[in-house]
Amino acid sequence: MLSGGRTRLTVLLASLGLLLWLLLSAKSSELGSNHSANIPQTKSKVNQIQAQQPLNNTSKLDPKNLRLTHSECLHHFPSLFAPITKTTQFYKTHGGVDYTDITRIYSLLRGPSNHPAFQVHVAIIANKLYIKEYRPSHPNINRALLILDHLNRIISVSPQPLSDVEFVINISDQGGEELAGPVFSLAREVGNNVAWLMPDFGFNAWPEVGVLSYDVLRDQVEDIEARVKAGSVTKEDKLFWRGAPMHFAERKEALELATNAWADIKELRWSCLSTPEKPECKGLTDHKTIPNHCLYKYLLQTEGYTYSGRFKYLLTCNSINIIRVPPPFKKNLPTTMESLLKNVTLQKLVRDNSWTLLRNRYLTPSATACYWRHLINEYASVMNFKASLNLVRTDSDSPRVGAAGTGKAAPYESFVVMQKVDWNLN
Ligand SMILES: *[C@@H]1O[C@H](CO)[C@@H](O)[C@H](O)[C@H]1NC(C)=O
Ligand SMILES: *[C@@H]1O[C@H](CO)[C@@H](O)[C@H](O)[C@H]1NC(C)=O
Ligand SMILES: *[C@@H]1O[C@H](CO)[C@@H](O)[C@H](O)[C@H]1NC(C)=O
Ligand SMILES: *[C@@H]1O[C@H](CO)[C@@H](O)[C@H](O)[C@H]1NC(C)=O
Ligand SMILES: *[C@@H]1O[C@H](CO)[C@@H](O)[C@H](O)[C@H]1NC(C)=O
Repeated sequence: MLSGGRTRLTVLLASLGLLLWLLLSAKSSELGSNHSANIPQTKSKVNQIQAQQPLNNTSKLDPKNLRLTHSECLHHFPSLFAPITKTTQFYKTHGGVDYTDITRIYSLLRGPSNHPAFQVHVAIIANKLYIKEYRPSHPNINRALLILDHLNRIISVSPQPLSDVEFVINISDQGGEELAGPVFSLAREVGNNVAWLMPDFGFNAWPEVGVLSYDVLRDQVEDIEARVKAGSVTKEDKLFWRGAPMHFAERKEALELATNAWADIKELRWSCLSTPEKPECKGLTDHKTIPNHCLYKYLLQTEGYTYSGRFKYLLTCNSINIIRVPPPFKKNLPTTMESLLKNVTLQKLVRDNSWTLLRNRYLTPSATACYWRHLINEYASVMNFKASLNLVRTDSDSPRVGAAGTGKAAPYESFVVMQKVDWNLN
């Protein structure tokens, strides 16, 4: 479930994943060594980090403050908005977003392939969230609820008025396809300029994998790290990984290296967690919570289907997770580990820089709030239509009933209880 990484053939990036990608590849290449499982190389010049030196202390930022103004956001997170700027520029030079783009996305729903083009359609009007369409048939529909809840929290405390908008959300790992047009997505394939990268639902919570609240997770990790600092707990001097190997070469190779003294690498079969006594589950149930991942000095991040849901959680630990392992992985992971284990200066530098720059800055709840609000405003700046509460007809041509028979979109407060957009008074 906590699968992650980047596929070789189709490189997809999530909004904050993109950020990490830009920053970390700049950083790790400057470390002069190429470790860290698979943060891709980039030629980007965005905010090149001098990782030879410790990064500046950013403690002036309150990580839980969701009410920063946009200029405060720019001050604290200068590199956060690059994916938004890029997409906005694209639409500025390609005629913007038309209402027909939205209706065309709807038409994909009933096309010959019955394409599941999107799962949610929302409007934000006068800083209020409304739901215009909600398609609960998707197996991961909880993600949509997590996104809407997060979005509602962020817009309801916004210190500045937001522009009115209307947009559709695709919650799949792959995100909207190029053909779908201006869909808000968790990831997008390289070359897709039309999807808008939105923050991952996991910045709110991921109950299925035990992350009950991102805010609570951050506090739990802080607690553990404080105990480590105080000397009441010590981190294992090992490289930690749990997961399903699937068809990913590096995961399989990592498992083959599990006998090394520096490794605590095991396969985890999620389906076995409820039936550990079954013979086929033997050795496959050694699950550790994310906070307990922080009790290891080194955390391994590997390839997955698209963007990584897990990586941001690993980065909440004050552990080492950003050292690139150059290919071939199986040969170079041991050499990387051996040199790293010997160099305490390097360990501290990588750990502290990641803690300062990522956990305490770009991965904070306040950064995600800044990102969402800027995304909304920038998208609005290229919209060629006015946001409205009127509903679009979908599968059938019968009129929409709307919230309590009003024919209009459901305000979030009602939607969250009804989990639908159309219902009649009873
Ligand atoms: C890092 O890896 C890239 C290719 O993956 C290579 O071009 C570069 O020389 C490597 N750098 C170091 C310091 O090993
Ligand atoms: C840290 O702060 C100093 C002084 O404000 C500045 O010159 C330097 O560029 C900063 N370093 C980084 C890595 O941001
Ligand atoms: C950063 O500054 C705060 C106070 O401004 C201080 O408490 C904290 O220890 C500093 N952290 C580092 C890593 O220097
Ligand atoms: C949106 O998500 C679905 C999965 O629910 C995915 O199969 C599809 O490719 C995406 N649709 C479009 C049109 O981007
Ligand atoms: C350890 O790492 C530091 C920081 O990258 C580097 O300056 C130093 O040369 C390394 N020491 C050894 C013995 O490789």
